[in-house]
Amino acid sequence: MPDIAYVNGRFGPLAEAMVSIEDRGFQFGDGVYEVIRTYCGQPFAVDRHLSRFERSAQALQLSLGHTKAQWNSLIQEGLRLSRFPETKIYLQITRGQAPRDHPFPPSLAPTTVLTFRELHPLEVSVRKAGVQAITMDDIRWGRCDIKSVNLLANVLARQRAKEAGVFEAILLRGGVVTEGSVSNVLVVKNGAIQTAPEGSRILSGVTRAIVLELAGKEGLPVVETFVSRDDLLTASEVFLTGTTVEVLPVIRVDGCTIGDGVPGPVSHLLSRRWETLVG
Ligand code: PDD
Repeated sequence: MPDIAYVNGRFGPLAEAMVSIEDRGFQFGDGVYEVIRTYCGQPFAVDRHLSRFERSAQALQLSLGHTKAQWNSLIQEGLRLSRFPETKIYLQITRGQAPRDHPFPPSLAPTTVLTFRELHPLEVSVRKAGVQAITMDDIRWGRCDIKSVNLLANVLARQRAKEAGVFEAILLRGGVVTEGSVSNVLVVKNGAIQTAPEGSRILSGVTRAIVLELAGKEGLPVVETFVSRDDLLTASEVFLTGTTVEVLPVIRVDGCTIGDGVPGPVSHLLSRRWETLVG
């Protein structure tokens, strides 16, 4: 079963897919993207992802060029062609191909790319044991709510985490936690779940939103507020949420043990509820 790509109207093997070097995504990072995964072969929370895709595009005065129904049929067609047990679906729109010049060229056709690759979930043993993280400065731009293809600061942060032998880099701006390089960060403090509020400093994670709804149903208090590095290190639990990480406990940050050094009851409960929801 091949990795599949769709480029501007055509499906084919991913290895043969191409866009121009004059594409503004390549030249300027002038584009937006989404990552959607399947559970039991079906794309999960597509409507929420497509809504965020539309918001990201609108913020850059980019036209997505397709309705939600059209995106949905492209996704279904890609899944039909690739036929993996579970799939990581990537959607990207850039402003299109034009000679390099910063201002937007008039009436440019956007470049539309989708890719379909096999999804390899995190190993159960990793999820059960929890992961480690480091903190570092959040050097990203001022519109982290836009899921733009400009991921350089995220790339550098994840690389630093990798070099430190840990899973994630938790980002701090002005002394408070914003999010991870590829995930949202939630802590449990005095019995309440605390996480950075939606706004320009974080990506409004689809998983974050659903997990907060699950917490609400369980009667767990949720406070959307910024927490300091000290609050992070002294939290009883820290966990990450995201399309690829799902609900992932963090047991050490910057070498400091979080809580009892094992995944705590809140992340455990929310993981169970998550599994029930997607299963
Ligand atoms: N990233 N914050 C950042 C910076 C992210 O890159 C992601 C996800 C999230 C979680 O968002 P969601 O729950 O909607 O996946 C938060 C994806 C998976 C990626 O870039 O590969």
